[in-house]
Amino acid sequence: MKIPFYKPPITLREYIEVFKTLKSGWLTTGVKNKEFTRLISKYLSVNEENLKLVSSCTAGLHLLFDAFELKNSKILIPSVTFISPVEMAILSQAKPIIVDIEEEYLTISVSDCEKKIDKNTKAIIPTYYGGNPYDIDNVLNFSKNYNLIVIEDAAHGFGTEYKGIKIGNTAKIGVDASVFSFYATKTLQTGEGGLISSHNAYIMDKISKTYLHGMDKEAWKRYHQNTPFYDITEIGFKYNFPDILASIGIAQIKNFEYYQKKREKIWKTYQYLLKDIEGIKLPKIRQNSKHSYHLFVIRLNLEMWKIDRNKFISLLSEKGIGTSVHFTPVYRFSKYKSLLNLKISDFPISEKVFNEIVSLPIYPDLSSKQLEYICESIKKIWKEFRK
Ligand SMILES: Cc1ncc(COP(=O)(O)O)c(C=O)c1O
Repeated sequence: MKIPFYKPPITLREYIEVFKTLKSGWLTTGVKNKEFTRLISKYLSVNEENLKLVSSCTAGLHLLFDAFELKNSKILIPSVTFISPVEMAILSQAKPIIVDIEEEYLTISVSDCEKKIDKNTKAIIPTYYGGNPYDIDNVLNFSKNYNLIVIEDAAHGFGTEYKGIKIGNTAKIGVDASVFSFYATKTLQTGEGGLISSHNAYIMDKISKTYLHGMDKEAWKRYHQNTPFYDITEIGFKYNFPDILASIGIAQIKNFEYYQKKREKIWKTYQYLLKDIEGIKLPKIRQNSKHSYHLFVIRLNLEMWKIDRNKFISLLSEKGIGTSVHFTPVYRFSKYKSLLNLKISDFPISEKVFNEIVSLPIYPDLSSKQLEYICESIKKIWKEFRK
């Protein structure tokens, strides 16, 4: 059996929406962006003015670092995350301060932030690892004490809720901004794409210009107002979101709740079928939270195995099962290790966890048969390689 790590759910709806956009003759940012934004605004219960579709989550982070004027300041970022916030901090001429994670949920460690913060630290970028909230109450208290800007890396968080509030509702959660990713493997996928959410009107106004070269009029408005002229009021970027991708999003969000139920069922089935394997620690959902079920990350209790995590992955691969590792910690990348002078010994929890983690397939089209096959394969590997 061949089971890919991820396969996006594509229905006739996506084909029809993309076809309509192609036929309309308008492929770049325009009316489909507005329609997709309206549907997201309804889903998140957030005003449309507080949302901006952009070309990726990475782009969204870059725009926010620029809008919040983080140049020359320090930014706290967890070690186990994707490289985007670190890279964008450096491109924004800020200094990323890499901090360790909490062992249970693999999210930013506030106690390590306490050790590494100084008077030049202006912002913190907590990640919704796998779709679980970080320790929101604790991070917000900490940020209040040190007057930090909180920009959530919510790349995995579309569908996550905390205390009944959907992530992305920044006013209610109490953060400055959130950024989602609609990359090909995320819970809502348009191939590439991202979304900024913030109730800060000044920031959203600035981003509405900087995301497209600092122009005061988008191409769509110029075309429809029959004027070729515009002013440039900011130094900006080229981070807009094309309507072809917005059409995929329009189709996806209409099926979103249905897909989330399927993901939840897969999550629960994994929990049930793998519960008796002592050599595996299963993921937990943080209290008062709804998980987005983006990743199902198991951890090997290495003391109980004769093999390491990489061998475990290659044995699954031999059985046709695709897996992944989220993430190689920042301090392990040669560029950032030297640039930021990072030492593995400063990140004991990240390093332990990194050697244990394996992300298993989880997506709406994963069948019960495939799911059973994955779990049976894991059980066989456990029987053969347990100590
Ligand atoms: C935690 C995290 N942050 C940021 C990103 C970047 O998202 P994008 O590819 O939309 O820029 C990703 C993508 O994989 C991610 O997993």
